[in-house]
Amino acid sequence: MSGAGPRTLVVEGGIEGGVEGRYADWRAQALRALAAGWPPETVTWTERCSAASGGTEQLMLLDPGAAPDSGDDAPVPDDDALPAARPDIARAAPDVRVSKALAALLQEAARYRSPQRWAFLYRILWRWCQGDRAVASPADEDGARLHAMAKAVRRAHHDMIAYVRFHRRSGDGTPEYLAWYEPEHDVLAVAADHFARRMGGASWWIGTPQGAALWDGHALQLSGTPADAMAGADIAALRAGAAADDIEPLWLAYYRSIFNPARLNEAALEQHMPVRFWKGLPEGRLIPAMIADARNGARRVAQAGAVGTMKGKPVAVDPQDAQPLRPAPSSLDQCRRCELWRHATQAVPGRGPETARIMLVGEQPGDQEDLAGRAFVGPAGKVLDEAMRRAGVPPDSIYMTNAVKHFKWIARGKRRLHKTPGQREVEACAHWLEQERSRVRPAVIVTLGATALGAILGRQASLRDYLNAPVRLGDAWLVATWHPSYALRVDDAGKREEIVSAIGQAIAHGRQLAAGATPPSPPPPSPAGRQ
Ligand code: URA
Repeated sequence: MSGAGPRTLVVEGGIEGGVEGRYADWRAQALRALAAGWPPETVTWTERCSAASGGTEQLMLLDPGAAPDSGDDAPVPDDDALPAARPDIARAAPDVRVSKALAALLQEAARYRSPQRWAFLYRILWRWCQGDRAVASPADEDGARLHAMAKAVRRAHHDMIAYVRFHRRSGDGTPEYLAWYEPEHDVLAVAADHFARRMGGASWWIGTPQGAALWDGHALQLSGTPADAMAGADIAALRAGAAADDIEPLWLAYYRSIFNPARLNEAALEQHMPVRFWKGLPEGRLIPAMIADARNGARRVAQAGAVGTMKGKPVAVDPQDAQPLRPAPSSLDQCRRCELWRHATQAVPGRGPETARIMLVGEQPGDQEDLAGRAFVGPAGKVLDEAMRRAGVPPDSIYMTNAVKHFKWIARGKRRLHKTPGQREVEACAHWLEQERSRVRPAVIVTLGATALGAILGRQASLRDYLNAPVRLGDAWLVATWHPSYALRVDDAGKREEIVSAIGQAIAHGRQLAAGATPPSPPPPSPAGRQ
């Protein structure tokens, strides 16, 4: 290679398939540059899309020290210049062999949109040809980048297949289906190949900002021409996401009906369908409103309501198989007395017979109770079951409820961790606890933990002052004991046993009081530590 002025090779990029043609050109030039012995750091690769060439992509290979690209006309090569015509390139190309895996990676990475992609791919090829096989390994810096580019392209390919939405064209025009999509990388050709196989004889067109694919039912045509010129006026509506066909209302109705606000998990939703795709999807335009509704109290009622009003075919149910109906949403579901409803799945009401003599009051629903809508079904509920078993009290004879009816939590990674409700929240929820007390009129109220005790007394109090010391509260006895989750928090098995046994004794004591017995005078010792 001489040190003469700029040496430029202009290569025709393929009009069909955009990157397909560019890759072929890069490959031909890269082989030629390898044959000339040009190290990567001495070569400048430039890519430009020239409107004057009707969308033709051009790759320019400049020699070291080349002047910055001045625009349309590349300088005419001097004596040392590589010939521009492809047959010459092919004749001069060395016999370069790469592994199948590397060849596949190079082709995938060539679809990665970055101005440096061709220079980078040439560096990979150069190192390989120098015998540096590490370049194909993810452990190598260049190799890692190559793998990451290929991975991003595979992802864009997968996204395109998942998120392209065809609209049936009105009337008898062809192609029958139209779609607009904005892929992150140059994956139109590979995705089009997938749709050509999947959509059989139906004709379709997919437009993208970089080009379009047309399937006429038999053959695929890829084009780098500006998309709007291809299929007329429909395209503007497609691009704006405003195109609709007869099927779309059905699809939207279906999508709305399968959305369950009680199960809203925004992180999972966005992971499955990233926000950037929403604008291109008919259902994507529904999602923000559905999320807002779910946050604003539709969690429990919205789907049930929507499904309830749907016309359907009556299905005969054998009375023996009939499940008890879920209670109609009560005003508790609509409670806005404090802010806890915002992040809870639903309000969790008390459960048990309204004729129960004993009412157990816990603190607030836990994670599992929040999802199930039922008090004491999680780990603390299991401890309580054990305590009731020891007390000889059948769980279904007791009314169980909580001082606070919505789950208060903080996020720790994917987990929702219990957070103790504040005094304001306990006071706000006293309304519901009062209602339950006046409905059930229990003879004995067993409070579990300090929050429940405070809620029943109507003021904060020290649990230790009330342990094993039942007090009269109007018509009822108040028996205070530990919260069952205290047993779950202690590491020491002996201490855990003490706590479970103390809760069991308190419940047994409550049963005696409910049966009319007087409370014993000397209080037995209680386990030390925080409840
Ligand atoms: N803890 C409570 O206080 N109540 C429940 O319902 C569950 C756990």
